[in-house]
Amino acid sequence: MKTTLVNFFVNGKEYTLSVGNLFGQLLPNEVLVDTLRNRFGLTGTKIACKDGACGCCTVLIDGEAVPSCEVLTVDCEGKHIVTIEGLAAPDGTLDPVQQAFVDYYAFQCGFCTPGIIMATKALLNKNPRPTREQIQDALSGNFCRCISHYHVLEAVESLVKKGEQPA
Ligand code: FES
Ligand code: FES
Repeated sequence: MKTTLVNFFVNGKEYTLSVGNLFGQLLPNEVLVDTLRNRFGLTGTKIACKDGACGCCTVLIDGEAVPSCEVLTVDCEGKHIVTIEGLAAPDGTLDPVQQAFVDYYAFQCGFCTPGIIMATKALLNKNPRPTREQIQDALSGNFCRCISHYHVLEAVESLVKKGEQPA
C-alpha cells in the first residue's frame, strides 16, 4: 500500500508525517492547530472558536497570518510555518514585537496575545510603517475579550516609531 507523506517546516525544524487513519498517523481531516499543539507540543498557539472567527490560533504560513484552525495539515506540504514559540532568539531574547507587548502591557489574560503578535509580525514584515488604520485592519480578525486593544495599538505604534528613528 502506498504511504502518503506530508513534509513541512515549523519554526525552522523539518517534519514529515505519514497520512492515514492508523494510530499515530496524521488524519486527513486534522487541522494545523491540533497538529501543532497535540503532536509537537507547541501550545502557545491557542484555540477558542475553532471556526476561523477569533484569531487566537493565528500562525505565519509562508509569511502570511493564517488562522491555523482553518488549515488542514495535509495541505501544508512544503510550507514554512512560524508559531509564537519561534519568535524569541535561542538565548531567550524576546522578538521586538513580544517585547513591545510586554513594555506596553498589551494584554491581560494573554489568551489572545500569541495570535495578535503573529498577526502583527505579518503586518510589520510587509509594511514596517503602517498607519493606525492599517494596523486596525490587519488585526481586525483578532478578538480580545479583555479589551486590550488600546494597549495593543500603542505597542504596535511604538514599533512603527522606533522603525522611523535613524539607526
Ligand atoms: S480558534 Fe482559530 S480562529 Fe478562533
Ligand atoms: S488579553 Fe484576554 S482575551 Fe485578550
